[in-house]
Amino acid sequence: MREAIFQTRITDLLGIRHPILCGGMGPRVSDARYVAAVVNAGGMGFIVAAGHESRDAFVDQLRLCRKLTGGKPFGVNFYVSRRPGSVEALLALIPLLAEHGVNCVETAGANPEDLIQPLRDAGIRIIHKAPGVRYALTAQRMGVDAVIVVGYECGGHPGTKLIGSMVQAAHAPQAIDIPVVIAGGIGTGRQLSAALAMGADAILMGTRMLVAEELWIHPDHKARLAAADGTESVIIKTLLRDHHRVLDNPGARAVLALEAEGITEYEAYSDLISGAHTYAGYRSGNIEKGTYDWGQSAIFAGETMPVAAIFDELLDDAVAATDRMRELCAWM
Ligand SMILES: Cc1cc2nc3c(=O)[nH]c(=O)nc-3n(C[C@H](O)[C@H](O)[C@H](O)COP(=O)(O)O)c2cc1C
Repeated sequence: MREAIFQTRITDLLGIRHPILCGGMGPRVSDARYVAAVVNAGGMGFIVAAGHESRDAFVDQLRLCRKLTGGKPFGVNFYVSRRPGSVEALLALIPLLAEHGVNCVETAGANPEDLIQPLRDAGIRIIHKAPGVRYALTAQRMGVDAVIVVGYECGGHPGTKLIGSMVQAAHAPQAIDIPVVIAGGIGTGRQLSAALAMGADAILMGTRMLVAEELWIHPDHKARLAAADGTESVIIKTLLRDHHRVLDNPGARAVLALEAEGITEYEAYSDLISGAHTYAGYRSGNIEKGTYDWGQSAIFAGETMPVAAIFDELLDDAVAATDRMRELCAWM
């Protein structure tokens, strides 16, 4: 593992070497093998709790991750949906997390309030991901340990206000007292350096990491990312107020066609956006069906390489950017 370069409130809070977080990716994309690779490279990764075939299958993932990290702590992603029963299902998983070496949870989606005290009681840190400073401030008031502020460039859910990461990175550290992580469109070390310079405590990435060697998704999907120029994504489900940035593929276009007809019943969309199609597409490389989270940072994805090599590249680039700032300061 590369020596520590930047020490921040996030590296201290999570006990990690580098201020680099890799967000939870579903369905079952960020699995034990990938998360362990992130942790072993000195960052923090999150196994998505949702979408496993059974509770036992989720436990197997936790066990495997613990084994592959040699006991180093790792994270789990709790996506809180607005559907009835979502919070209860997540609450039932908390005892498993504490038992299997999870030290932090990335919450996202709807309000995490009912999860905070039970997670805290289990000795688990809560990092809430929100698509805007306003929502991050609410999470701070609720008592989370840190926030991830994600800009509209992101793969996944950019929120309904669609605020860019450059604005959020400059604003969030000024407005928020607890540690702040910046996400959305990040895939280089110069962005890490810039985020830290603006007062953030870490960055979080999703899309850029999809080419990691340790990820099981089909090589054709990784090749598509390597060839990307960052213009391949579209935002779907705006009509449902569930904005979602995904790859512009036939599945996404079918969703947009329903929206153009003004259809607001969720049921009309449920097959098109089903995680089962997406999971099958990640396995086979055939992406005709399903929707695939895909951010503008696909431009930075490049060739397939191990997570540790990606981190090395990022850290070299961050140091180069920091050196450039020093050179530009005539008085230093
Ligand atoms: C393939 C993929 C799947 C994702 N799935 C989830 C998820 O299940 N839960 C979640 O909270 N965020 C999910 N995200 C969002 C990421 O955790 C992260 O917030 C986002 O990717 C950051 O923006 P970036 O893609 O520009 O790096 C996903 C992102 C990608 C690319």
